[in-house]
Amino acid sequence: MVKIHDKHFEVYLQSGEIQSRVKELSFKLNQEFEGKSPLLIVVLNGSFMFASDLVKQIHFDHEISFVKLSSYNDFSSLGNVLELIGLNIDVENRDIVIVEDIVDTGLTMNTMVEKLKAKKAKTISICSLLFKEVAFKGGYKPDFIGFKIPDFFVVGYGMDYNQKGRNLQEIYKLKIK
Ligand code: IMP
Ligand code: MG
Repeated sequence: MVKIHDKHFEVYLQSGEIQSRVKELSFKLNQEFEGKSPLLIVVLNGSFMFASDLVKQIHFDHEISFVKLSSYNDFSSLGNVLELIGLNIDVENRDIVIVEDIVDTGLTMNTMVEKLKAKKAKTISICSLLFKEVAFKGGYKPDFIGFKIPDFFVVGYGMDYNQKGRNLQEIYKLKIK
């Protein structure tokens, strides 16, 4: 158990489980993108650890760009999605793989996809470590999913609770007393 700010969190996914699932996702991407040269777009901040492990095991030709989009600082998504910043590679006519930590309501992903479509991406695939299917409000579902999880708040492995907890190797869930 860990305490972050005022809340207690308990282990939900062990480091070993995460690592082996990430490896499987890399293998799936290897199958899908063999012979292609996609641009991986990593959505910061939460995806940095996932992306780092994921790309170590991919074998196809690719480029990586890091972008920022939403602000999320409490227990529920506010939907106050910001501008897409940091995309310094032309996406026109490219295969794109969005790398995300978690798709919750889907608002962030919908905004991302719409922006990339407007920039004339050729294909857009979404690879998300976590998917809160019950919280999803519709739109673009992830094509590659690490774990489907219930609608509870998680931290660790890149994800934060008010900017803390990102370094944890395990994924923790909020402990309800
Ligand atoms: P959405 O727009 O509701 O799908 O939320 C997406 C973003 O909110 C994700 O990329 C995360 O950065 C953040 N987020 C959603 N749920 C959680 C959570 O349980 N813990 C930490 N961050 C979360
Ligand atoms: Mg995110």
